[in-house]
Order: sequence, then C-alpha cells, then structure tokens
Amino acid sequence: MADATDLLDAGERLGAEELRALQLERLRASLRHAYEHVPFYRESFDKAGVHPEDCRSLADLAHFPFTTKADLRSQYPYGMFAVPRERIRRLHASSGTTGLPTVVGYTENDLSMWADMVARSLRAAGARPGDIAHVAYGYGLFTGGLGAHYGAERLGCTVVPASGGMTARQVQLIRDLEPGVIMVTPSYMLTLLDEFERQGVDPRGTSLRVGVFGAEPWTERMRHEIEERFGIDAVDIYGLSEVIGPGVAQECVETKDGLHVWEDHFYPEVVDPITGEVLPEGERGELVFTSLTKEAMPIVRYRTRDLTRLLPGTARVFRRMEKITGRSDDMVILRGVNLFPTQIEEIVLRTPGVAPHFQLRLSREGRMDALTVRAEARPGATSEARQAAALSIAAAVKDGVGVSVDVEIVEPESLERSMGKIRRIVDLRPR
Ligand code: DLL
Repeated sequence: MADATDLLDAGERLGAEELRALQLERLRASLRHAYEHVPFYRESFDKAGVHPEDCRSLADLAHFPFTTKADLRSQYPYGMFAVPRERIRRLHASSGTTGLPTVVGYTENDLSMWADMVARSLRAAGARPGDIAHVAYGYGLFTGGLGAHYGAERLGCTVVPASGGMTARQVQLIRDLEPGVIMVTPSYMLTLLDEFERQGVDPRGTSLRVGVFGAEPWTERMRHEIEERFGIDAVDIYGLSEVIGPGVAQECVETKDGLHVWEDHFYPEVVDPITGEVLPEGERGELVFTSLTKEAMPIVRYRTRDLTRLLPGTARVFRRMEKITGRSDDMVILRGVNLFPTQIEEIVLRTPGVAPHFQLRLSREGRMDALTVRAEARPGATSEARQAAALSIAAAVKDGVGVSVDVEIVEPESLERSMGKIRRIVDLRPR
C-alpha cells in the first residue's frame, strides 16, 4: 500500500522556494484579474494609490487595501464577480444574521479547485480513496455540505450525503452503511453521541476511524472528548465561504499540530486587528486571506475576524495556522476582560460531573454586563457533585480568565442541542 507521502499532489510536493515563486506569480495575476474585472477593486486600489504592477514581492501585498464583510454586502448580490454571470456554475450564501447575506460564486474551474482542496484536506485527515464518507454538514446555501461532498468524491470516496438533522436516522446510517470517515461540526458530533447512547449503541464500536470537524471553534479538550468517546482520530478543517468554503486549511492526522493552510491557492496574513499592520510569523492577530487562483470572485486581503497565528509547516511545506481561539465577533468584553467561548469550553470539559454542553448567557445588571455559564449535569450527578462543579467552574474562570461569572448547572438533556454550527452566546441585554 502507498504511504501518505506517495499520495501528495503536485502542490504539496513543491519546495519552499518554488512555493514562494508560484505564490508571487499567482498573486500578481489575481490582483490584475480583480483590478481589471471588478469595479469595486479598481476603485479601492485607485483610492489607496496602488496598482497590481506595484506588487513585486509577497510583502508588497501589505500595501493593498483590505476587503471587509461590509464591502461584500455593499456589492450584494453580484457586484464582486469578475466573470460574466453566465460563467458562474454555482452560488452559495452565508446566513445573514445581521442584514443581507453574502453571495459567493464559482466558475467550473473554481469548483474543481475547491474539490481538489477538500480532497487534499481529507487525505491529510487520513481518508483514502475507497473510504465511505458520511457528510453531516448541512447541504444548501451553506458551503459545508456540498463542499465536503464534492471533495470526498474527488478523492474517490463513497459519499453518504446525510446533511444535518434527523439525528436518529444519522445514527442508523452510520451503523448500517459503515462509513470510515465522518465530516460534521464538532458540536453536532456531540449531539450524535447523545443519540448513540440513547439508542444503547456503543459509539466506540462503530466503523468510524476519522472525523473531520470544523465550521466553528473547538478546543483540544473537545478533541480529546470526541476521540475518547468515539475511539476515532479527530482533526480540524477550516474555511469560509468568502474564500471558497471548507478546505482552506486542514490539520494533518499524523501531527495534529494546527492546520496547514493550502497557501498555493489561499495566501494568509495575520494582522493587528486594530491597526491592520501585518504581524510577524508567530504573533497572534486577525487572519486575512487573498485568493491566488479564483476566477469568479477573487478576494483581496479579506478580513476574516478569526483570531490565530501563523507557524512554520511541519507535515507539509505550507505554513500552519494555530487552532482558532475565536472570532472577534464572539469575544465578550466583561468588565474590561476579554473572554472567548473556547476558554469556557476548556474549563467545562475538564470539570467532573458536567456534560460537554454549555451556553453563555449575557445579561445586564444595572450598568454592568454579567455572564452566566449554563452547563449541563451528567446523568446521575448528585446535587453535591453539581454544586462542586459550579464552584469549580466559577473558580477556574476567575483564575484562568480573570473575571467573575455566575454558573448554573442545569438538568441533563435540558440545553438545546446543536444541529450544525452552534451558537454559544445568548445575549439577553436590552438593546
Ligand atoms: O463554515 C465553511 C466550513 C464548512 C468550514 C465546514 C469547515 C467545515 P462560513 O459559513 O462562511 O463557512 O463560516 C466561516 O466559520 O470565518 C470561522 O469563524 C468559522 N470556522 C470555520 N471553520 C472553523 C474551524 C464555513 N475549523 C467561519 N475552527 C470562519 C474555527 C471555524 N472556526
């Protein structure tokens, strides 16, 4: 049998210098493509006094203006497209929690590159041609389902397009069709875990070997929980619709040390979220992406709002990004202290007596914001155990994050279960 390195594609086999040269060539072409075909970019480059020809080194990208979610909204629905609408083969859209959705488009070549990148991701995760892949990311306008689907087909897997929801049936399908690979959000994987237990089926006894989890932040503790409870390898996949969808970066199963960014197609920078200044490798900040090969919707220096840092490559030539701590949008500022849901996840998941389900409820008392952590008791946890858990979570948050929170331990099975991307924060503050 071929070992993993025999299976690398041409991009993964590049040397470091070849990679930088390819990136520069593609970057220059992509900036030209954006400038020549998208009036928005022409205007924004002109306003910043830069021209695609000014990009002579990868570092020169720093002179180009950022693109934000608001910019994409201002061009709703088709303003960011660089090809005639007839050449667009597919549209996706991000849910517009605040106003208009963001529409993204793909040419035939874009769809093919995307499938290649998801296939590459799956291979890095430990999937192989011939595997059965159960896809429980939602199908539809969300990029998760269809993105995973075509990538798994491209790798040569047998795909089960389960989509999200109908949890009891998902468990049945996993038992009967015997997939080796599952692609799903980590929070929905926990919902599936409950359902296995409800049906009296041992989750460690399934055919599953590897889980490819993403679309929301999750922690090392969560990895440990899922790996232990299911007896599988759990690896991280990252992406966003504005850049392509899932398959922008992927953790390799042999190292599990952060996600290799497929930077022969998506060029990453990390910037200071306030000043926008590019930060040196290793420093934490906001992740920014520039597409290098996209046709339908080239994207230049897109501000993801995701917080991470870049690190040198290990299992691949490409740089890694550290597992995402959170999004700047999900950061709660509580009496001057910044807090991310992932910090609470780490704490809740290591506390005995509580299940890995929790919610953060933000309220206002007088002029002060207050945060209540609601965590679920494990079935059978005594009232003493629950009390001890509440005290221990509150103390760990005070120690680790530096702020006081209230903790409520609620009944088993009482918190709403995730059906896809989970929302951790319930904001009860008056508008
Ligand atoms: O969530 C694409 C995707 C689907 C990725 C399936 C992985 C698996 P959007 O709906 O546009 O696209 O949301 C993108 O989700 O900016 C991050 O904030 C978050 N996100 C995605 N993957 C991860 C991850 C898809 N592995 C937004 N870790 C991104 C943390 C993630 N956050």
